[in-house]
Amino acid sequence: MSVGITKARELGVSTVGCASTGNTSASLAAYAARAGLRCIVLLPAGKVALGKLSQAMFHGADVFSVRGNFDEALEAVTALALDGELYLLNSVNPFRLEGQKSIGYEIVDDLGWKSPDRIILPVGNAGNISAIWKGIKEFYDAGFIKEVPRMTGIQAEGAAPIVRAVEKGVDYIEPVENPETIATAIRIGAPVSAKKALRAIYESEGLAETVTDDQILSAQKLLARREGIGVEPASAASIAGLIKLLDAGEIDKSEHVVCVVTGHLLKDPNTAINACKEPIEVDADINALSKILKQD
Ligand SMILES: Cc1ncc(COP(=O)(O)O)c(C=O)c1O
Repeated sequence: MSVGITKARELGVSTVGCASTGNTSASLAAYAARAGLRCIVLLPAGKVALGKLSQAMFHGADVFSVRGNFDEALEAVTALALDGELYLLNSVNPFRLEGQKSIGYEIVDDLGWKSPDRIILPVGNAGNISAIWKGIKEFYDAGFIKEVPRMTGIQAEGAAPIVRAVEKGVDYIEPVENPETIATAIRIGAPVSAKKALRAIYESEGLAETVTDDQILSAQKLLARREGIGVEPASAASIAGLIKLLDAGEIDKSEHVVCVVTGHLLKDPNTAINACKEPIEVDADINALSKILKQD
């Protein structure tokens, strides 16, 4: 988003905008505030996690709650952009992908200038997977790495047009009319970068797989309780996908795998709270506390 807003400033626009499942709007609102630009965001009503909604509002964006899903909101904001009302900063914007590709650079850098065997990531609008592949290919073409990773995209079962396309071996998607999943960040039926994502998966001899909401939630908990890493549900889709593909023998245990986890736990506090037991109410008394602790 930093690259996108910098370009918006260079182009001299006064208003930027996006449709969002939440995170893009939070980011755009913050960068637009810093750049002194008006920011308009369209969010699917009732389907944006609290942390993201509060960021977009608090950074001063004009927030519209659209009666419809993300795909419909994106259509509406695209029409506004074509009308000249705003400069669109969804990941369909080529400068966004130029920024996002640096995730690919960072992975290679973090691994001591080596490529992992595989990169697994959640796929919604399909910007990240396309952009990371672009970054990786640039490093490969420049001779910085000798191998490339298999790009592996994970989608929620109720929002999986790219996985269905890969199952059929085709390079186009059939949009999912009413996408549904607890992982609101990837609740997208018509990913705008689908073609690029499919190219990334095919060119890299990667995979695409679905996971259920239950698999997402248990991977989210596992990551939090085994590693101390708190992520929002969409992010945990990559870990859930890794577990599923390992169990199915599609991924070998010897592989060097990087899972990208995309969003912090507190972006979606409600899902986190709903997944846990309520705190035990107790007097501030050592005897009462030790009695309870002994019961556990
Ligand atoms: C937390 C999180 N994970 C994954 C994604 C999906 O990324 P992409 O739309 O680039 O596929 C998003 C997109 O908003 C997101 O917010």
